[in-house]
Amino acid sequence: MHIQVCYTGGMHKQLLIVAHQPSPNTQQMVAAFISGSHAAKADAVGVSIVAPLECQPDQLLAADAVIILTTENLGYMAGTTKDWFDRVYYPVLELKQGLAFALVIRAGLDGTGTQRAVESICTGLRWNLAQPVLVCKGPWQEEFTHQCFEMGQYMTAGLDLGIL
Ligand SMILES: Cc1cc2nc3c(=O)[nH]c(=O)nc-3n(C[C@H](O)[C@H](O)[C@H](O)COP(=O)(O)O)c2cc1C
Repeated sequence: MHIQVCYTGGMHKQLLIVAHQPSPNTQQMVAAFISGSHAAKADAVGVSIVAPLECQPDQLLAADAVIILTTENLGYMAGTTKDWFDRVYYPVLELKQGLAFALVIRAGLDGTGTQRAVESICTGLRWNLAQPVLVCKGPWQEEFTHQCFEMGQYMTAGLDLGIL
């Protein structure tokens, strides 16, 4: 699935959301990113949502900031998210240093293994964490939706204001 959310106006910044969303709850998290992004009223920011398996290096090269959403599976990021890092790492390594990124993890009970692994890879890529890592763990809470809304809003507004 590749959803392109195009805002009107002279679009000159791109927010890429690389989302592994296998469940209704994770799909709700992505919907909240989009709502938050809309709420930022940033006409100049375009938003793309793409599944990790479909995300190619050129989409990342075109991005000005990235939100990564992954579940935690067996103490690690989702296999699809790891595959994405494996494929894009070297094609973007020299070209995207300093890229602003945010990490959101949906975990049944932990999330730390995933956070450690993604932060390690992103340190290797020389990306900059734009917001504290958001770990939505345990039984589903409506608060997660609000937190994802704020993440989408912050990343979009940050691009619009030129602070990311
Ligand atoms: C094969 C498998 C392995 C999982 N391993 C972990 C894990 O190691 N740690 C954890 O916190 N949650 C784990 N989970 C729970 C998932 O993270 C959880 O199902 C996912 O976040 C979706 O939750 P949701 O239905 O509320 O969106 C695992 C789920 C599956 C299917």
